[in-house]
Amino acid sequence: IDYMFTPKVLKNKKILVSAGPTQESIDPVRFITNHSSGKMGYALARSAFLMGGDVTLISGPTHLNKPYGVKTIDIITAQQMHDEIINRVQDFDYIIMSAAVGDYRCQNIAQEKIKKHEDTLTLQLQKNQDILLEMGQHKKPHQIICGFAMETQDLIENAKEKLLKKNCDMIVANHLKTKGAGFQGDTNVVSILTSESIHHYDIMSKNELAFEILNQMKKWEEQKC
Ligand code: CTP
Ligand code: CA
Repeated sequence: IDYMFTPKVLKNKKILVSAGPTQESIDPVRFITNHSSGKMGYALARSAFLMGGDVTLISGPTHLNKPYGVKTIDIITAQQMHDEIINRVQDFDYIIMSAAVGDYRCQNIAQEKIKKHEDTLTLQLQKNQDILLEMGQHKKPHQIICGFAMETQDLIENAKEKLLKKNCDMIVANHLKTKGAGFQGDTNVVSILTSESIHHYDIMSKNELAFEILNQMKKWEEQKC
């Protein structure tokens, strides 16, 4: 039903969406991750399909059902997400980085379970590649790139900085400390920034927001040409 009634405004568009958290192993039984549920990214992938797009979803570990009609590729680590995205990104028109990519991984993954000894334990972490930054640096003229920004302070300033630094067309900024916003729920509270505008939104469902983000990307593309 949804499919029949959604206008196919993204027909002929190839759309890449990343979603969920990444996991970085510490040893064979433990890992480092974050609170991302994947809901925003899955809503984006589903909406993009309903709008007629040809959609690929690169997903970290989540508890969600795979969206119908979407080609889904599962990854675990930030490096795997990087490789899956960078190897195919040139084929896509719209790219949306809604994944919560881990900023650091363990420098050495212990081969055996780490046993407890001292009162403190130090893990040495190594920075992961910034996927969005790399895509922005190699952006093709036909590509529209949308990033996210997770902030707990100075939301708009930090989001603007990410927009410029990562050469994105759009940033969806979400304030993790606002009620109804963030990782686990079905709603979000965001601002959408481009180099020319800022839209502040009231609380809305992640499904509604997904349609709004995709429509804003379409609008941005149309005003560019
Ligand atoms: N991102 C990415 N690769 C990374 C880290 C982040 O592609 N290794 C993307 C995220 O998917 C998001 C955007 O960059 O679309 C911003 O992520 P965020 O965590 O808010 O910002 P960072 O640039 O990682 O900076 P910081 O966490 O220090 O605020
Ligand atoms: Ca980060």
